[in-house]
Amino acid sequence: MSNSKSVSIDKICIGEVAPGCRKVDPILIADGVKRQFGGLTAVDVAHVEIPRGLITALIGPNGAGKTTFFNLLTGFDKPNQGNWSFEGQNLAGMSPYKVARLGMIRTFQLTKALSLLTVIENMRLGAQKQPGESFLTSLIRPLWIRREKEITEVADTLLKRFKLDAKREDYAASLSGGQRKLLEMARALMSEPKLIMLDEPMAGVNPALTQSLLDHIKDLKSNGTTVLFVEHDMHMVRHISDWVIVMAEGKVVAEGPPSTVMKDQAVIDAYLGAHHDTDLGTMSKPASTRSKKGDTK
Ligand SMILES: Nc1ncnc2c1ncn2[C@@H]1O[C@H](COP(=O)(O)OP(=O)(O)OP(=O)(O)O)[C@@H](O)[C@H]1O
Ligand SMILES: [Mg+2]
Repeated sequence: MSNSKSVSIDKICIGEVAPGCRKVDPILIADGVKRQFGGLTAVDVAHVEIPRGLITALIGPNGAGKTTFFNLLTGFDKPNQGNWSFEGQNLAGMSPYKVARLGMIRTFQLTKALSLLTVIENMRLGAQKQPGESFLTSLIRPLWIRREKEITEVADTLLKRFKLDAKREDYAASLSGGQRKLLEMARALMSEPKLIMLDEPMAGVNPALTQSLLDHIKDLKSNGTTVLFVEHDMHMVRHISDWVIVMAEGKVVAEGPPSTVMKDQAVIDAYLGAHHDTDLGTMSKPASTRSKKGDTK
C-alpha cells in the first residue's frame, strides 16, 4: 500500500535527490551535528533538511543514531558540535522546554507518561500557556478558569480521538504500553505543535489501533502540521510518508520518496548487509535485540 496522494519530488527537493539534498521549504535544517559516546560516533549528520507540511520517515537499523539525533534536535542531549535551526531560528544549546515552546514537540521511544498522574492530568500538562504560568493570569480568577476549561475541552476531544476517553480518570501507570504511546502522542498534540517528532509511534500499539493511529498522523498533515517519525515498520513507512531519510552508523545514507528509497542499494545494505536483494516492503521490525540506551530516561 502506498501513499495515495504522493507529492511530486520537485515540490519537495531542489536539484538532485541525494543524502542531505536541499528542500523547497524546509522547516528544520541541521548542519554538521555530531555526537560521540566515548569512542563511538552515534550521530554524524553532515546536512539534512526536513520538508515543511509533509510526513517524513527517519529509518535505519538498530543503533543507527535515530533516537540520539531526536534527542539532540530537541535539546534533550548536547552534541559535540553542530548547528540546527527550526523555522530559521537557531536551536543549538536551547533547552527542551524552549524548543517545545517554539512548536517542535517530540515523543519518546520509551514512553514518558507520568504514571502517578491520571490520563487527563497528563493531558493537561501537555498544554502551552498554562494558567499559572503568567503572573497576571494567575491572579485573575476568571482568566485562569476560562483557560483551564479550554485546556480540558481540548484534552477531552483528543482523548476521544485516541479512544482513551474511557481511561480519563485512570492512572497512566495502569495503561498498557500501547495505550501509553497513544497518550504520549495525544499529549504532544495538546500544544498544537508545528512539527511533531514521533519516535516509533507504532511500537507496542495494539494492531486494532494501528489504523486509527495512521489516520491521526495523516490528519495532522491535513491540518498543516509537519511530521517526522522514526519507524521500523516498513509498511507504515510506505503507507504514510511523503519522504524517507535513512540513517546508518550515525550518517544520512539515503533519502527520497518511499517508493524509490526502499529499493536503494545503500538502504538494503544498511539494513540487511550486502548480498541481499530483499524488498524492504516485505520487511517488518528487525528481529535483532533492540537497544534502548539512546533514549533519554
Ligand atoms: N547515552 C548513551 N551512552 C552510550 N552510548 C549510547 C548512548 N545513547 C546511545 N548510545 C549508542 O549510540 C548508538 C545510537 O543509538 P540510538 O539509540 O540513537 O539508535 P537508534 O537508531 O534509535 O536505534 P533503535 O532503532 O534501536 O532505537 C548506539 O550504538 C547506542 O548504543
Ligand atoms: Mg531509537
